[in-house]
Amino acid sequence: MKTAMRGFNARAEPSRTETMFATYARDTAMPSSAKALKNPMRPRPDLQHEAMAHFADHCAVCHGNNGSGQTMFGKGMYPKPPDLRLSRTQDMTDGEIFYVIENGIRMSGMPAFGGEATDSADDTWKLVYFIRHLPQLTPAEEAQMDSLSPKSPDEFEEEKQEQQFLNDGESPTETLTMHHRKGHDQ
Ligand code: HEC
Repeated sequence: MKTAMRGFNARAEPSRTETMFATYARDTAMPSSAKALKNPMRPRPDLQHEAMAHFADHCAVCHGNNGSGQTMFGKGMYPKPPDLRLSRTQDMTDGEIFYVIENGIRMSGMPAFGGEATDSADDTWKLVYFIRHLPQLTPAEEAQMDSLSPKSPDEFEEEKQEQQFLNDGESPTETLTMHHRKGHDQ
């Protein structure tokens, strides 16, 4: 989420003419060497799981956990995030998908994820596998991802309070006051 917002803010507002050409930017900006790149990682269940978590965390805000692009963010963008399950994306080579994730798409909302301290090329290749898996994503997998996606601060706070209540049987407010008082007495 932090990554996404940074990419978003760093982008200069495109002019209207630039926006008109945005749809073509993906293909024209792609060096032909990118097309031939092969995914060096073998698909393994644990990699798949990591990629799912990564996608839920960094990509779902625009693309949706199922890749449909039907998100609050996505709807307000031009160009919109495409449905990643369809041939427009699935017909890209692994190398092309890798290139787009690493470098983003100029004049669009698609941020570049390469070069971030936490994102390595390996992570990007895992995402390439995950994008290949999207057309076969099961409802169970999607539900699992929904539980991983960043939550709104309210939802997060609510969950934390519930958890606290379940853990020690005290209401969150009581716990807070007790700690507070203790701090003053010492
Ligand atoms: C802030 C919104 C946003 C985030 C976050 C985002 N994307 Fe995108 N993505 C877009 C938009 C918008 C496009 C379409 C750009 C265009 O058509 O020019 C796009 C396009 C793509 C494409 C090209 C698909 C095609 O058919 O052209 C891929 C692949 C992709 N994104 C993968 C990812 C992955 C993987 C992540 C997470 C690491 C991610 N995106 C995060 C907005 C986003």
